[in-house]
Amino acid sequence: MPKIHFQDSGKTIEVKEGESILQAALRSGIPIEHNCGGVCACSTCHVIVEEGFGQLSEMDEDEEDQLDEAEGLTLKSRLACQAIVRGDLVVRIPPCSKGGHEH
Ligand code: FES
Repeated sequence: MPKIHFQDSGKTIEVKEGESILQAALRSGIPIEHNCGGVCACSTCHVIVEEGFGQLSEMDEDEEDQLDEAEGLTLKSRLACQAIVRGDLVVRIPPCSKGGHEH
């Protein structure tokens, strides 16, 4: 099973076949914001993929459009709900994507 290491919390989780970064994180108790419920209609699930960017499913146009709205966008940014994990990753959750905030 692929693994995701979260830099901020130092936690490493396992990802099931076909899961997105968001699904795997929430299942393992790692909070990532997901205001639209994971349907690519917000940008609160923005994460930065420090390692393993090429191991993710490709970005489509809808995701690119939503990501443009994300705060602190980088070249390694993805929407956690759209990125299907296919190999090991190191991920950073930017402050505004961390769960538990009031918006
Ligand atoms: S949760 Fe809204 S775009 Fe990912």
